Amino acid sequence: MADSQKDQEPTQQVESARKAFEQEFGRFVRFTGISVNLSDLTLEQALLEERALTELRTRHLGKKSELASCKKLIGRVASEQRAPFGQLVQATESALTEELDQADRNLKAYIEAEQSARESIDVTLPGRRPRYGHRHPISLLRERIEDIFVALGYAIEDGREIETDFYNFDALNIPPTHPARGSQDTFYTTDGFALRSQTSTVQIHAMQRRGVPVRMIAPGRVFRRDTPDPTHNPMFFQVEGLCVDRGITMAHLKGTVAEFLSRMFGEDTLTRFRPSYFPFTEPSAEFDFSCFKCKGNGCRICKNSGWIELGGSGMVHPNVLRAVGVDPQEYSGFAFGLGIDRMCALMYGLDDIRLLFENDVRFLEQFE
Ligand code: FA5
Repeated sequence: MADSQKDQEPTQQVESARKAFEQEFGRFVRFTGISVNLSDLTLEQALLEERALTELRTRHLGKKSELASCKKLIGRVASEQRAPFGQLVQATESALTEELDQADRNLKAYIEAEQSARESIDVTLPGRRPRYGHRHPISLLRERIEDIFVALGYAIEDGREIETDFYNFDALNIPPTHPARGSQDTFYTTDGFALRSQTSTVQIHAMQRRGVPVRMIAPGRVFRRDTPDPTHNPMFFQVEGLCVDRGITMAHLKGTVAEFLSRMFGEDTLTRFRPSYFPFTEPSAEFDFSCFKCKGNGCRICKNSGWIELGGSGMVHPNVLRAVGVDPQEYSGFAFGLGIDRMCALMYGLDDIRLLFENDVRFLEQFE
């Protein structure tokens, strides 16, 4: 209590406490009464006012308030003045409390009404249609390829994207001096692991895990240090195929690839094999198919050649079979691999495979 207040008569002190309250409460008077209109207040303003009102209540009716000091005086005033002084203090406290309660009730009611108006749902508003996602064109194509090979009795293998030198190179009969092993062509991690540069690595895992005979395809992501251009990406998708059994010949390879391509592009699709070289197949061949657009007559898609190059293939090299403990005298097999991204670009008429990974929704949502 301030010294000037201590010197005042007890009744004057009560009066000064009431005046101090009335002065501060002035701005809240508009919240008292029976029908108050608070519509000029936003919800946020009303919440602030309510907090200010609570603080005001503490200041004027709390334990450290002027009125609380007056209450302590009741026992100290002369006995004949005690009863009227006590009544004065009580009456003042009740009046202040009543004013505060009224303002608080009205503010709270207004806040509650505003909050429920905000949260209420207008059922007459038109609904917002959720945007449906689309499968990526690479996934669509991969699933078509998988369906065809599953129907031909092939299992689907899921390989690893980070490999040791054994799976990436040694077991695939790729000699230590082969250029593909250099960091110019392959991404290496700091621990000496390599990001696989082809799905052929899954041949090794599949034969180790399943043994032979085996028939499997392995779609997946591969990585090469290729500079991006309309037909190259440093990350792209391939599908590997492997069939190992007794008595498998090049005829089985040609028949299988031809069957796959005719199921993919139509029964009249022609297939062509050209001699090639891959360390893990012997003999090796690249395979082409007659252009699905012009049926071999020549067009922009096949660069007027009538043929589209698709992938590599060959008979599994005996060294690859030996690397996984399979006797090449008893078993033989064929393998093939193709790039899904370029095939996708051809089928959907894309000029640039980089579009596939730009993640532009306007581009991607065109594919069903
Ligand atoms: C291979 O990767 C062999 N593993 C294929 C194989 C499997 C041969 C089994 C024999 C037996 P190649 O390097 O040619 O082959 O790649 C195969 C396909 O991957 C290519 O035809 C092409 O479609 C695709 N490709 C290669 N590099 C890129 C690239 N940077 N961006 C997009 N696609 C690519």
